[in-house]
Amino acid sequence: MRGIVYTGADAEVTDKLEVAEPGPTEVKIKIAAAGVCHSDLSVLDGTIPWKAPSVLGHEGAGIVEAVGSSVRSVKPGDHVVVATLASCGTCRACNTGHPTMCIRSLGNVSTPFTYDGEPASNFAAASVFAEYTIVQEVQAVRISKDVPFTSACLIGCGVLTGVGSVLNRARVQPGETAAVFGVGGVGLNVIQGLRLSAASRIVAVDTVASKEPLARQFGATHFVDATQADAVEEIKKIVPHRPQSMAGALGPGGVTWSFDCVGHPAVLRNAIDALDWGGTAVAIGVPPRGSEVSVDINNLAYVDRGLLGCRYGASRPHHDIPLMVELYLSGKLMLDELVTETRPLEGFRDIVEDMHAGKLARGVLIL
Ligand SMILES: NC(=O)c1ccc[n+]([C@@H]2O[C@H](COP(=O)([O-])OP(=O)(O)OC[C@H]3O[C@@H](n4cnc5c(N)ncnc54)[C@H](O)[C@@H]3O)[C@@H](O)[C@H]2O)c1
Ligand SMILES: [Zn+2]
Ligand SMILES: [Zn+2]
Repeated sequence: MRGIVYTGADAEVTDKLEVAEPGPTEVKIKIAAAGVCHSDLSVLDGTIPWKAPSVLGHEGAGIVEAVGSSVRSVKPGDHVVVATLASCGTCRACNTGHPTMCIRSLGNVSTPFTYDGEPASNFAAASVFAEYTIVQEVQAVRISKDVPFTSACLIGCGVLTGVGSVLNRARVQPGETAAVFGVGGVGLNVIQGLRLSAASRIVAVDTVASKEPLARQFGATHFVDATQADAVEEIKKIVPHRPQSMAGALGPGGVTWSFDCVGHPAVLRNAIDALDWGGTAVAIGVPPRGSEVSVDINNLAYVDRGLLGCRYGASRPHHDIPLMVELYLSGKLMLDELVTETRPLEGFRDIVEDMHAGKLARGVLIL
């Protein structure tokens, strides 16, 4: 079987993979398309430490090939999006609508593959850069056959993460203002989540100037090229302090919400500094382990600023994946527009190069 393996040093396109048959609670999926998320790249450069050998990819969609004896919710032939949460379904987090906080859903590694005859583990409980993968039943979410796989696959991470951070975690209200740092696959989905929430001013910030048209297409009302201007100052010019509030002290002016979709301490610091009184920054990007950010505590304590983390859009896959499909089919959520290029597995390196060069919304592998 073909797939992309993280060897510990690099990513290798190989045909030396085999996958197990599904156990009683598992589903075997024939992957049709898979998006390349920055988190896959973060495994390769060590930002996200992971076991090797392992099969990469965690943003995928495909067709159910076979199901285990106790699986009831999907059957062979169903089209599914793969959710990365192998959540247990029985703990307090799962039963209060927070499967992203299920302890079983984090760092849960199994070994359904062999690579050149040796055991190989999965990545993010998904491993969708392979012709076939094995997931838990709870992770195979059936979708309408009307959604092309190249668009559906993106729901599996970038869309749930970005749109979910706005709808589920921040719960942005109509008319509120926001800044989005990083206009990649995740940031564009934050931007369209803000558009869906009727945010008034949506300021996109990137270090690649050519991202501006894309940001505006998804709903940004302003764009700041962070290589040409101080992003915080620009944001405070676009959303100045409220006339009734005291200027000068405790950094008034700025947005109600900011989202770090890059994963760098300096970017998160800017996201905090760009907040108005009462504003909240949401940390989505994932820097190396141990990364820290410093803030002036008085700027938080006196005027109710806050900082939130957000994993996987605080999503509940069996609610949010059908919701994203419904919004797409009714013309309210852009998925096709996220697909900048499609390539076979052998084109993985080209996608990585184009991603680093800031050329992509998303690159998608076709299996
Ligand atoms: N919390 C989660 O659940 C979750 C889920 C998915 C991805 N992520 C993380 O989110 C981050 C973004 O992922 P992605 O797939 O959108 O990446 P991407 O490579 O598609 O996009 C990153 C964007 O950030 C821009 N950028 C880089 N440095 C910048 C800077 N200093 N200021 C402003 N913009 C800058 C790039 O030009 C690019 O447009 C990664 O760290 C990824 O690991 C987190
Ligand atoms: Zn991802
Ligand atoms: Zn659980």
